[in-house]
Amino acid sequence: MNPQSDPHRRAGTGRPPFLGHGVGLRRDHFERVLFAPAGVDWFEVISENFMVDGGRSLHVLTKVREGYPIVLHGVSLSIGSTDPLNEPYLDRLRALAERFEPAWVSDHLCWTGVGGHNAHDLLPLPYTEQALDHVVGRVQRVQERLGRPIALENVSSYVAYRHSAMTEWDFLGEVARRSGCGILLDINNIFVSARNHGFDPIIYLRSVPPEAIWQFHLAGHSDKGTYLLDTHDHAITGEVWALYREAVRLFGPVSSLIEWDDRIPAFETLQEECRRAGSLQREALAAPAEADGAAVAATSRRAPGPEVAP
Ligand SMILES: [Fe+2]
Repeated sequence: MNPQSDPHRRAGTGRPPFLGHGVGLRRDHFERVLFAPAGVDWFEVISENFMVDGGRSLHVLTKVREGYPIVLHGVSLSIGSTDPLNEPYLDRLRALAERFEPAWVSDHLCWTGVGGHNAHDLLPLPYTEQALDHVVGRVQRVQERLGRPIALENVSSYVAYRHSAMTEWDFLGEVARRSGCGILLDINNIFVSARNHGFDPIIYLRSVPPEAIWQFHLAGHSDKGTYLLDTHDHAITGEVWALYREAVRLFGPVSSLIEWDDRIPAFETLQEECRRAGSLQREALAAPAEADGAAVAATSRRAPGPEVAP
């Protein structure tokens, strides 16, 4: 699909263009995507993997960018940490974005370390007013530094803070409203966290601001019996596909991406997941139209009644 010609392009809404359905670009598939049509609409790349001065990765990304839109997705921003923002990192990210002109830049609503120690994990935040003020201020500084708005992704989580004063979805929505950032809604992460913490994932979807939703992530998780683990190492489950369908019905066509980071399969498997996302989206978008059509048909059969003032 050519995003430039897509009828759902978000002209005037503040949302970036609809890119279609893409996959994460992983080293295992470099040869495959260089030498044959990828059969996907776009690629997401891990920003940090390309913050280098040269070499094969940058060469591959240059070739890929000639043919496809890309999004830069980072894991090191640590937007929620109380450590100072990493200015050299932001300089490198800005340079990378200026070089490759991604459709947007994203990272996670989390913290990854404190006191100079890196936890090498995407850790959840306490959802308090104090944390909200802290994160919003840092998002604004990052956006100024990069010269563009960013999108933040909801992470999967396994612990919660007793002193959280609001829900994750209210916190995420407020960060977006106050800072002007977009939301990368990871449908699998919502499902995993909903099971782990016992909330309703549909309430989550219905509570985030639709105008801020820039992108969806879809991925596989593992059932550990007493909890779900966000493993990204196998196919998307039926329950997550069902939640994706609800998300499409609520938010319309949103650029969607298949994440697969461990036990990476043949590229054709990712293509198949990508096609499935596209099919489900078309079905979900057609369903309300059919319902509307039925309502229109029912109305048209109704006997004329008294005229009602507007
Ligand atoms: Fe994700």
